[in-house]
Amino acid sequence: MDDVTYETQELSPSKIKVGGGREWWRDAVMYQVYVRSFADSDGDGVGDLPGVTSRLRYIAGLGVDGIWLNPFYKSPQEDGGYDVADYFDVDPLFGTLRDFDVLVGDAHALGMRVLVDLVPNHTSSRHEWFQAALKSPPGSAERDRYIFRPGRGPDGGEPPNNWKSVFGGPAWSKVTGPDPESVSDAPVEWYLHLFAPGQPDLNWECEEVRRYFDDVLRFWLERDVDGFRIDVAHGMIKHEDLPDLDSDEEATGDPDPSGMSGDDHPYWDRDQVHDIYRRWRKILDSYPGERVFLAEAWVKTPARLARYLRPDELHMAFNFDFLKCDWSADDFARTISSTLANLAEVGAAPTWVLSNHDVVRHVTRYGDGPTGIARARAALLLMLALPGSAFIYQGEELGLPEVTDLPDSVLQDPTFVRTEGRVRGRDGCRVPIPWEESGPALGFSTGAPWLPQPASWAELSVGHQSPDATSTLALYRRACELRRLLRPRCAGADFKWLHAAPGLLAFERGGSLSCVVNCSDVPAEVPSEALRIGPVVLSSATSNALVDAPQRSKPDAPKAAPLLPANSALWFAQLA
Ligand code: NOJ
Repeated sequence: MDDVTYETQELSPSKIKVGGGREWWRDAVMYQVYVRSFADSDGDGVGDLPGVTSRLRYIAGLGVDGIWLNPFYKSPQEDGGYDVADYFDVDPLFGTLRDFDVLVGDAHALGMRVLVDLVPNHTSSRHEWFQAALKSPPGSAERDRYIFRPGRGPDGGEPPNNWKSVFGGPAWSKVTGPDPESVSDAPVEWYLHLFAPGQPDLNWECEEVRRYFDDVLRFWLERDVDGFRIDVAHGMIKHEDLPDLDSDEEATGDPDPSGMSGDDHPYWDRDQVHDIYRRWRKILDSYPGERVFLAEAWVKTPARLARYLRPDELHMAFNFDFLKCDWSADDFARTISSTLANLAEVGAAPTWVLSNHDVVRHVTRYGDGPTGIARARAALLLMLALPGSAFIYQGEELGLPEVTDLPDSVLQDPTFVRTEGRVRGRDGCRVPIPWEESGPALGFSTGAPWLPQPASWAELSVGHQSPDATSTLALYRRACELRRLLRPRCAGADFKWLHAAPGLLAFERGGSLSCVVNCSDVPAEVPSEALRIGPVVLSSATSNALVDAPQRSKPDAPKAAPLLPANSALWFAQLA
């Protein structure tokens, strides 16, 4: 079988225009920056905002439309900053408000939008409100901002119900408080924390809480952010009676609680949460520019997700069903079809994501090693060919795998401690980025990185991959570049599945782009309908994308379709 090279059309970077048009978010590519692991400017081993600013050109060079920054607010960092002690300031670990303003200004100058993380379900236990609540008696206004309840049992010594923390252990802690004197005559109370004890849940029935977050939104909108990713967007409203869960519904320490959500669940995905989003949308829309909300909502079905995306609520929501697909054409096809159908009903744009700071990196989920990389490269072509917006998690453009052998002593995810080591947690997908082939922390920091990088990551570094046209980094750059070029023709174009053999996915977008993904372990024929769209413009395989099919033995038999190698994907398009 001889290799066949198919024509690949050349692109000039000058054809690429940075920044989207109207409703930019409907087909944007966003890049997730996990600040503490991206780039460290001051040598303390932890990434920071000036570090991000110093690498903005790299991000813009990928061809993305914007960034989403994980939390950088003042925080004791019990859960990687998702325990906010001050919503109006930057933690010194990450810099200053001035550093933030510089970052936003520079990103905008490079044509990129900036989304920040909003953490409204819980504060840090070091937040001034929670400290005040600890010093105040049961029934006080200070305690009403959170969810305090008397315990069960003779002395109130048992938690108020059987809810479990997502990170393991009970979702309730008994109040001792820093100043037990002032509450010494009061009955013992417990407070709710669906995550770590350092993350007490706010009481969203309290109007003061709602007003406070109105101010938080305004504060960052006035600093020119383009929108917010909303943490635990499906969890803020709790059933007023806080009923016990049936035992088979109990949280298990899995950060994905979607198996338990539904309109009758006592805390996930309750209908009243939508009132909050309608309120927030009015605030957001009162600012100029097209600013957006993006929900982190682990819900049961695409139909439930669509409810967050009604026209007067949020703009986008992560599509975790896509992230949870196995490497299977059937699984992908089912999820894509159901996402498109459900979101079309509310006129919402679909989103696609393969990895983030909470899940095992997809190179590893797809099998690790060369197979995992091949599949991850193909998955990128799948994701970027679909209608809607896409999210890239820092480091996936380098093909980084999950680091599975971090020593126990360095693990920081609260899950590890709360499950007594049974669940190792999410540190393995948060290891700092390798920028250079050599030097301290592979260019991430001049000091020791907060999590050690594997020595083998030298070859995955930006410095190593940049000059290599076959690298995963080069594939990401080219895919984003091509997507931008094709964007005007694909925007609003019909999505159509093409007939394909089992194990293959094939679809086209309004006659302008077709994508074929071979999820099987053997080469497979490219469907002729896909070939008709145009020449190959991009291949996920590192060698020639198509190989000649073995020809029939009779010389006059029709020529068979070319074969697409296992675990690879192709785009066909007319670029001219
Ligand atoms: C979702 C965030 O992505 C995760 O990192 C965090 O631990 C939980 N929400 C709690 O805030």
